[in-house]
Amino acid sequence: MDTKILKPTQEGIKAACDILKNGGVVAIPTETVYGLFADATKADACANIFKAKERPQDNPLIVHISDYEMLKDVASEIPEDAIKLSEAFWPGPLTIILKKKNVIPDETSAGLDTVGIRMPSNPVVLEIISKTRLPLAGPSANRSGRPSPTDAITVFNDLNGRIPLVLDGGQCKIGVESTVISLVDEQPILFRPGYVTARQIEEVLDKKIIISKGISEELQRGEKVLSPGLKHKHYAPKAEVVIVNAPFEKYKELVEKENATALCFDEYCDKLKVDCISYGSENDSASQAVKLFHALRELDEIKANKVYAMMPSTDGVGLAVYNRLLRAAAFRVVNL
Ligand code: TXA
Ligand code: MG
Repeated sequence: MDTKILKPTQEGIKAACDILKNGGVVAIPTETVYGLFADATKADACANIFKAKERPQDNPLIVHISDYEMLKDVASEIPEDAIKLSEAFWPGPLTIILKKKNVIPDETSAGLDTVGIRMPSNPVVLEIISKTRLPLAGPSANRSGRPSPTDAITVFNDLNGRIPLVLDGGQCKIGVESTVISLVDEQPILFRPGYVTARQIEEVLDKKIIISKGISEELQRGEKVLSPGLKHKHYAPKAEVVIVNAPFEKYKELVEKENATALCFDEYCDKLKVDCISYGSENDSASQAVKLFHALRELDEIKANKVYAMMPSTDGVGLAVYNRLLRAAAFRVVNL
C-alpha cells in the first residue's frame, strides 16, 4: 500500500473522511500527538489500527468525539464529575473513562465495559469527526512501543506502507498524550498524567483524586493494573537511557567520564563535552513536553548507546514529562 501525505485542505479532509467512512484508517494531527484513527463503532476498522501499529490486543483505544450528542451515544452513564471536567477542559487534552454503551465493540475497548472519551481541540480532527459524524478510535500514530509522533514525517517513517493516508497539520502544540482520568468509581483515578494536571482536576471537582500506581514508579509483578497502558513497554529508544537526579556538576562528571550521550535541557548543551540532545528548557515543563518524543527519536538517529538524561521537575505538566521519560528509561534512575 502506498502511504500518501496530504495537507489538511478541503481535498485532504475529504480524502480522510472517505477512507474513514469506508472502514479504513488515517493518521490525523491532534493538539497532543498524531493519532491513527478509525470508526470506533466498527470492529473491523479498529482491527486495522491494531494491525498497523502492532498494538497488543489488550490495550483499549480512546474514542474521540466532536460534541455532547456523541458523548451520549458512546457513554452509558455520565456522572456530574464528567460534566464538570468536560466543561472545564473540552475540547482539549483530557480523556475521561466512563461506562460504555454497546455501540463501542469489544475490539475498541479491549473487552472492558468502559471507554476512554476525549473531545480534541485541534481543528483538523474536530472537523473530520463532525463531518463524518463518527466517533473515532485513535491511539497515538506510532509503531507500538515507540515514542508518539508529534509531526507527520515521523508518522510516515513508522507506518509507511501500512496505512493509506497521513494528514500533515504541522507540529503538535502540546507534544505529550492526553491526561487520562477514570470516573468509573466514586473517587476519580488518574491513569496517565498530561497537560491537564492533577491539581487542575482537583480544583474543578473540589475533591482529591487518586494517582494510580505505575505513573512515577514501576509496578511490581502481580500488582493489579488499573489501566493496560501502565504495564506496556513504551517510548523506548534503542539506547540504554538512565535518568540522573543530581546537581549539574555531578551530572557533567558522570556523562563525561563515561563519554555517554547527554539528554539535557537547552541551557546545558554547550557546557558538556559529549554528544547532546536537548529536550526543552530547564524551568519550562511545557517546552519539555513539546520536544521530548522527538528528542528520544533523535537518540536513535545519532545511534546513541548509553544516554544519561537530566531529571525534569515532576510538578504540574512536569509529571507528564517524567512519566514518559521514566518509561523510556525502563525505570532506571540514579540519585547522586
Ligand atoms: O492524546 C491522546 O490521548 C492521543 C491522541 C491521538 O488523542 N491518544 C493516545 O492513545 O495517546 P493511546 O492509545 O496511545 O493511549 C491511550 C491510553 C492507554 O494507556 C490505554 O491503556 C488507556 O489510555 N486507556 C484507554 N481506554 C481505557 C479504559 N477504558 N480503561 C483504562 N485505560 C484506558
Ligand atoms: Mg500510545
